[in-house]
Amino acid sequence: MDLLSSLFDRLGPEILDPEEDIPSQNLGFVDPRSTTLNLDIAGKDYVIHQSPTILNRPGSTTGAVVWKITPLVADWLASSDNPLWKSAVLSSSSSVLELGCGISGLVGLMLAPLVARYTLTDQSYVAKLVEKNITENTPSGNSKPPGTNSQRRKGKPSLARSKPDLQFLPLDWELDEVTPSLTRNDNVKSFDVVIACDCIYNDTLIQPLVQTCADACKLRSTNEVVADKPTVCLVAQQLRDPEIFEAWIKEFSRHFHVWRVPDNALSPGLRSNVGFVVHLGILQDAEATRNRS
Ligand SMILES: C[S@@+](CC[C@H](N)C(=O)[O-])C[C@H]1O[C@@H](n2cnc3c(N)ncnc32)[C@H](O)[C@@H]1O
Repeated sequence: MDLLSSLFDRLGPEILDPEEDIPSQNLGFVDPRSTTLNLDIAGKDYVIHQSPTILNRPGSTTGAVVWKITPLVADWLASSDNPLWKSAVLSSSSSVLELGCGISGLVGLMLAPLVARYTLTDQSYVAKLVEKNITENTPSGNSKPPGTNSQRRKGKPSLARSKPDLQFLPLDWELDEVTPSLTRNDNVKSFDVVIACDCIYNDTLIQPLVQTCADACKLRSTNEVVADKPTVCLVAQQLRDPEIFEAWIKEFSRHFHVWRVPDNALSPGLRSNVGFVVHLGILQDAEATRNRS
């Protein structure tokens, strides 16, 4: 894992005991009653349509409204101080997959202009609203990775794309298979980063969620040019039920090497004293595969 050592240096020790003591907090919608949210993230305004009506339908429709952690994660990932940018895990050539994105697509809206491609996924009930939010919040202007000089130099071609590559695809953790087609590009078979925000809340979803994370990270195979740079899985979570969280971290640790992002590498609003945690995982098999080759 030499290529990721600059990331690991920023994270501190790997979690070897998944039963570590973690504080907890209650449910966290941004506002479960409004149909429209005006959010300012990293200096940009987003107007997000959400649906309290769908949230209150019988069945699991938690993604019909925005959850508090998602604007915080989008804001944190927008910063050039973020350890994923600093360690070049994220770069302008990155491919990113988000699981359980909900109706907002906020992390994708913020990150897509800074990376090569971003695929949002969730169950199909979010499709209509997330597509509306993508369309209404996608600027046609140019963006560059954080920390890049935004001045266009005389005689140099612009690196920026005209339109971010951001799209929603349905992906149900319990029903659907993870395939390279999720990148939506025949030349790209895997992702650099897999993101899940506030997806740990139901015991029965833990195993399918972790398996989907593992399957998505396994797409990075040994015959790719980027094979020695394993996919990083980022799981950001508001702490509620400690038993469910502990069950998740135990299951996640069966497949991944796991680090908790230390508070000093998070924005103040995303820290554990406010009730949020961010973990990074690298597939255990990824290391074994590299050691064998
Ligand atoms: C608490 S919401 C978080 C939504 C969004 N990430 C946010 O933070 O605003 C959990 C998300 O997990 C999704 N989810 C639940 N079960 C799922 C499944 N079996 N397959 C895919 N997504 C699922 C829900 O649809 C919902 O969008």
